[in-house]
Order: sequence, then C-alpha cells, then structure tokens
Amino acid sequence: MLFSPLQIRSITARNRIAVSPMCMYSSVEGMPNHWHLVHLGSRAVGGAGIVMTEACAVSREGRISPMDLGIWSDEHAQALQPVVEFIRQAGAVPAIQLAHAGRKAATAVPWLGHKPIYDQPHGWMPLGPSPIPYANGYPPPLEMGTADLKKVVDDFSAAARRANTAGFEVIECHMGHGYLLHSFLSPIANQRRDDYGGSLENRARLPLQVAAAVRESLPQQLPLFVRISCTDWVAGGWDLAQSIQLAKWMKEVGVDLIDCSSGAVTADSPIAAAPGFHVPFATAIREQAGIATGAVGLITEPAQAEQIVGTGLADLVFVGRGFLDNPYWALHAARKLRANADWPVQYARAVGVPRS
Ligand SMILES: Cc1cc2nc3c(=O)[nH]c(=O)nc-3n(C[C@H](O)[C@H](O)[C@H](O)COP(=O)(O)O)c2cc1C
Repeated sequence: MLFSPLQIRSITARNRIAVSPMCMYSSVEGMPNHWHLVHLGSRAVGGAGIVMTEACAVSREGRISPMDLGIWSDEHAQALQPVVEFIRQAGAVPAIQLAHAGRKAATAVPWLGHKPIYDQPHGWMPLGPSPIPYANGYPPPLEMGTADLKKVVDDFSAAARRANTAGFEVIECHMGHGYLLHSFLSPIANQRRDDYGGSLENRARLPLQVAAAVRESLPQQLPLFVRISCTDWVAGGWDLAQSIQLAKWMKEVGVDLIDCSSGAVTADSPIAAAPGFHVPFATAIREQAGIATGAVGLITEPAQAEQIVGTGLADLVFVGRGFLDNPYWALHAARKLRANADWPVQYARAVGVPRS
C-alpha cells in the first residue's frame, strides 16, 4: 500500500510518502537558491511521492527567522519555478507549505542560537492574537487588529495564487506548531474578547477564513492540505476533540487532507514523543471527521510506514528527519518492502541493472 498511488482531486502521487516540510533557513529576503533546488530535488530523485517545501512565509513579518524561504512577491514565485519543475521531472508532486510565524517570528536561525531578535537592527515585532509572549525572552506580540487579520487572509490567498503560478500542485497551510494560525486556535495563546477569541467557533474563525480564501485562489483540481497540532499536550489547551471539529469545518471549506502533528504552542509542553506518536490522532480525525489524513513524527521504518497506510490508520506518511538522513529514504523503503519503485535511469547500475 505504501507504494500505491494516492489521488486527491486531479493530482496523483506515485506513493504515499511525503517529504515533511523542513525549514532550511538558507534564504536571503525569502528567495530560493541552489540549496533549495538540490535539497528538494534530491528528495524527488530519491523516490518521495510528494516533496513539500519548508514553511514558506506569506509575508516578510511572517518569517520565523530572517533566513526563511518566502513567497510574498511574484519574484519569489518566479524563482521557485525551476525547483518546482525539477521536482516534477523527477516524478514527485511539488508541494509548498504556506506559513506565518505569528508570535514565534523574528528569531535567529537555529545554528545562531534561535533566540528572539525583535530588538536588533534586522529584527521586527511579532504579531499575535493576544499580547502573551511565547516563552521567556520573547516579547509580547502586537495584538492584531481588524486590518492585520484581513492582511493575513489576503497574504495567504495571494501566496496560494503565486504558488499555483509557480507550478506547485499541492498547497499546505501551516496551522500548527504554535505559529500564527495555531496561536489563534489555542486558548493558551488566544485570550481575545472579540469574534476571534473565546469559543471554539471564534478561535477557529481566522484559520477557516484563511483556508476558504486559499481554496478560492486555487483551481478546483489542486489539493489543499492543512497541518495542525492535534493537541497542545497542556490541560486547558487545544486538544483532539477540538481538532476533530476543526477538521469537519475545514472539510466544508474545501480542505482535502489534515496533516497531523502536535505541540509547540508553548516552549515547555510535555510532548509524549515516541515512534508514530501522531498516528492515533490521524486515525481519529480520519474516522470521525471523514477527511483524508497524513501522519508525521518518528516514522522511520518502512514496515512501520507500510503498516500505517496499509491498515488505513492514515492516507499518507510524512517523513522529516529520515529524509535529512537519507534523500533516498523512499527508494530504500521500496527495496526493503520489495515494492516496485523506479530508480532513476541514471542510477540504474546502483541496483544491479547491467551496463548497456
Ligand atoms: C530541520 C527541521 C525543520 C522543520 N521545519 C518545519 C517546517 O518548516 N514546517 C513544519 O510544519 N514542520 C517543520 N518541522 C517538523 C517536521 O516537518 C516534522 O513534523 C518533524 O520533524 C517530525 O517528523 P520526523 O520525526 O519524521 O522528523 C521541521 C523539522 C526539522 C527537523
């Protein structure tokens, strides 16, 4: 099953393995470069069915760090085109994750300490639902007003239109990991008293407006994914029951797949990480909201991935660090599972095809 095609709307992936979005922090002013071509391109050559970019900022202020990839102008979209083209030529579906970092924006890249830089010359003030800092050392984000909310919806929608122009065939909106849209969902970060805070309906309003606007910007044949944190792992926070309701609403506005992750709305949430630990969330949402799901998180073994997809626990697996370790994770998985997967003809001799 892992190597059976997955069709969503008019797009068919050659298997059910997706490269999980992973920040490379290697851009200047949001622009892609040779790193992105080689990094994403090699995972497409390596057999993944879907190759998704890292979190791609829909606005300059929505970047996690100054070195994030972005798609806030037509020049960004144009520069992404060769990357998209290469991924497609290598047989994978090119996908992009659209993101706004919210109150977790304006930090140094990990290898420079990942600390807030809002008060430095190259920094900026993060935005959020309420002036509650993410963690010690982070500033209280600027509480977003009506114009800011409208801008976020417009930015996601424009970014989706550009992504389509660049040739991406799957669009994912990042609504997890404590970033802007998750911070609206979670009562831990959202203590607004207007239409965007309080009840579940209100906290889900901005994420749903974003999803609806993105859906409208895309041609009908293209799939729309949404990544969520299925739980905050904190009492009084976001949880699975709310995720299931959100997934039902997301389905109504035209979302096709929920990519199931967890945590990161606070710096100290006790995440119960273990092999496949998000799979039960993906299964519950799939069954109770009636929508396709993907599972991510410590899915490292081909047999484990096969079991997840083959027994209907999720429709798709996202593999992150496994693909950092080995760009050919998918081809090696096929070999282990004795499944059919075409090695690139250029590399045929690696698998014993005689010299012609
Ligand atoms: C270097 C790195 C960068 C990441 N960047 C993103 C990102 O841009 N967007 C996102 O949704 N998750 C991001 N993640 C989380 C991964 O997509 C994935 O959910 C996580 O690593 C768990 O999967 P794994 O155990 O297969 O690595 C990142 C993870 C890593 C290791």
